[in-house]
This record gives sequence, C-alpha cells and structure tokens, in this order.
Amino acid sequence: MPKLKLSKVGKKMNHLTGVREIMKDIAATLRSDPSKKWLNLSPGNPIVLPEVLEMWRTYANELVNSSEFGPVIGRYGMTQGFDPFIDAVVVAYNKHYTWGISRENVLITPGSQSLYFLCSNLFGGERDDGKGTQKILLPMCPEYTGYDGVVLDKDILVSVRPHIEILGAHEFKYQVDFSRIHVDESIGAIMLSRPTNPTGNCITDDEFKKLHAIAKQWDIPLIVDAAYSPPFPDLAFVPMTPFFDEHILHCVSLSKAGLPGERVGIAIGHPKYIEALEPFQSNVGIHSSRFGQALAAKALSSGRLAEISSLVIKPFYRKKLEMFRNALHERMPKDFPWYLHREEGTLFAWMWIDHPKMNDLEMYQKLKEQGLICVPGSSFFPGLNEDWAHKHQCLRFSMTATDDEIRAAAIALGVVCKKF
Ligand SMILES: Cc1ncc(COP(=O)(O)O)c(C=O)c1O
Repeated sequence: MPKLKLSKVGKKMNHLTGVREIMKDIAATLRSDPSKKWLNLSPGNPIVLPEVLEMWRTYANELVNSSEFGPVIGRYGMTQGFDPFIDAVVVAYNKHYTWGISRENVLITPGSQSLYFLCSNLFGGERDDGKGTQKILLPMCPEYTGYDGVVLDKDILVSVRPHIEILGAHEFKYQVDFSRIHVDESIGAIMLSRPTNPTGNCITDDEFKKLHAIAKQWDIPLIVDAAYSPPFPDLAFVPMTPFFDEHILHCVSLSKAGLPGERVGIAIGHPKYIEALEPFQSNVGIHSSRFGQALAAKALSSGRLAEISSLVIKPFYRKKLEMFRNALHERMPKDFPWYLHREEGTLFAWMWIDHPKMNDLEMYQKLKEQGLICVPGSSFFPGLNEDWAHKHQCLRFSMTATDDEIRAAAIALGVVCKKF
C-alpha cells in the first residue's frame, strides 16, 4: 500500500480505538475456525427481539404504504430533524418527565455516537483565545470506549478513577470519587454514560446532582449519554430521575430499542447547545436518516416504544444477568476473589478478578482456548493514563447470548479460574 500523507487529525482518526481493535481480533478468531461453536459474549449489538422487530415492521409497513413515503426517502430535510419526530420527542418527554421542553430544545442526529463527536469537538480541543487546550472530563471510569474515538486530539479526555465499594462476597459497585475530581478553566464539558457501558453502573441521583452543581458552577455542559436510560430502551434496573436544566445535555439513542441500523440519536438541551450543535452537524453530515426518524416518530407518539422497552427489553436482559450471576456462583472455585458489578442497567455483566495474577488480555486468550470470547476490560478506561492494577483485572460479558451459552460461559470461567 502506498504511504498516505495523513494530517495529525488524519492519523488520530485513522486508528481504531479501545474495544474496536479487540473486535478485529474477535472477528479474526471467529473466522479462523468457522466450524467451531464459539461462546461469543462480546457483542455490543442488541438482540433482535421478536416483539421489538414486529413493532418496527408494523410501522415500516404503515410508512411504506402511505403518501409520506416518497418525500421521506426522496427529499433532503432540515438539519434539526424530521418535523413529526421532533414533535413526538417534545410530547413524549413532557409527558414522561414533565420537563416542559419545546422544539428548540431538540436536535436529531445520525445515531448518538455522532452527537458525542459533535459535543467533544465543540467543547474540547485547542481554545480560540490561545489559552491552551480545553478538556472533556469523564468523572468516572470505566466508561464507554467510544468516547476515545470521537475526539480529534488524543489528549482531550481526562478521566477519574472511582471508589470501589464491596457489597458482598462476590458483588461490588463503583462510586464517583469526588475527592479526585478537579475542575478548572481547562475543562470544557463533563461527559458520562448513565447507565454505563461496560459496567452496568448507574450513578445515583445524589452523585448526578453533585456533578450538575459542578457543571453549573463552571458554566459548562453536563453531557449525559442516555443510550440505556428510560424511557427507552429503559435498561436501568435501579430508580433514576433524569431532570432538565440549562447545563444538562441529554443524549438519547434509538439503537438499543431495536433501531441501530437506522442511526437515530436525539439531543435534548438548552437552545444555546442545540444552536451550537446544529450548524456543526449540517457541515458534517446534513441530517439523520429520515426513514429511521419517521419510524421512530410513529413508535414514540403511539407510546409503544416506551411500553415495549419496559415490558420486553428490560426484563429480557435483567433475567440474563441474573442467570449469569447464579451460574457463576455454582461454577467458580470456592474462595476465589471474583466480583460482579451490581446489575444497575445495560446489557453487560462486568467482572472484576481481584487477584495479583489477573491480567485481562492474558485471561481473554485463556478463555478463548476454552471457546469463550469476552472483551478485556482495559479497553474501557479512556482518558485514565495513571497506572492502576484494577485496569487489567476486569472483563465485560454481553448478555445477548442464549441461556445455554451463558451457562456454558460460567463453566469455562470456572475452569480457567481453577488454574490460577
Ligand atoms: C454508552 C453508549 N453510548 C453510545 C453508543 C452509540 O450508540 P448509537 O448507536 O446511538 O450511536 C453506545 C453503543 O453501544 C453505547 O454503549
């Protein structure tokens, strides 16, 4: 291949970050022996659940057979989004949370990942007054590894390690360690996922209020990644009360509610943020898929999206997580220092092995030899440069596997851990 003359940004963006590099290895492993029955507990892709698919199919049929179809797919639209969808978002959030928002508080984006690209580069990077670089603070890691990929400069993210609370023999929880959080003029925004991929942690209302107070004090946005949050896909298993305020930017995704392929994300925030994001989005990608938005408008305004999320999607993953924990209790060696993060949300189980010999990358290889594929945890500490043994002691397991695969995964883990 001829060498490309890439720019500094080109070089940074040309690299797969964190988990995406591992995903390449996983794909190669699966291809290396296609006849082998792998236990693949790595995917971030949600399961296509029959009831959810049926809902989207019904609305797609309705749309395709209506007069709306031609203009929806055959015309460009407004960058802010497809009108009926913006209206549906306003009505749904005012009904669900009584936030009192209006159209000027909403921007539709091509998936929420692109929204993090817009946000991190609006608020992070070289300042235009020559006073150095503005950073994006991730107040608690482990955190969504996708944030690493959206910043144009590699040193923009700064992350803070958490306090670890042991809850029982094999259960723990991360808490925001406010004693380690230092905000000054150099921080342009605070960003976090709630509930969090990969750990399933859902920061408490109290922690959230404290972060909000910091954002308010410094007049910076608190960007909340609601990819797993209520009202859809409603993958929060503990109570959480999201609220609306001048300094909070809620970032919603339709992906875990069955529409990842259509790329629909929603920003809900103060008009000052929406007005800053909209031209950036117009320059980069014009607008999100109008077909996806038109489907989402129907699912949202009928109330079916929130209903199917809490009645179908949420119990599905909750049951899988419970099954995984029970299977581990049966299969892991006695007195072995393994801990699962308390199940507070998302579709992932997060395991910590508090053993001096534990190394996530070596463990990933050993589990592969048993036919089990997971994701090594060290990919999920974007912006945390300090040495910390815990970074190499964790693994992520996706609950998108079948019941039999989940039970077999616990057996494979037991076999490998017995040899420690
Ligand atoms: C925490 C989190 N945020 C954002 C995303 C990206 O979602 P989208 O499909 O809306 O771009 C994901 C996808 O897995 C995620 O886990």
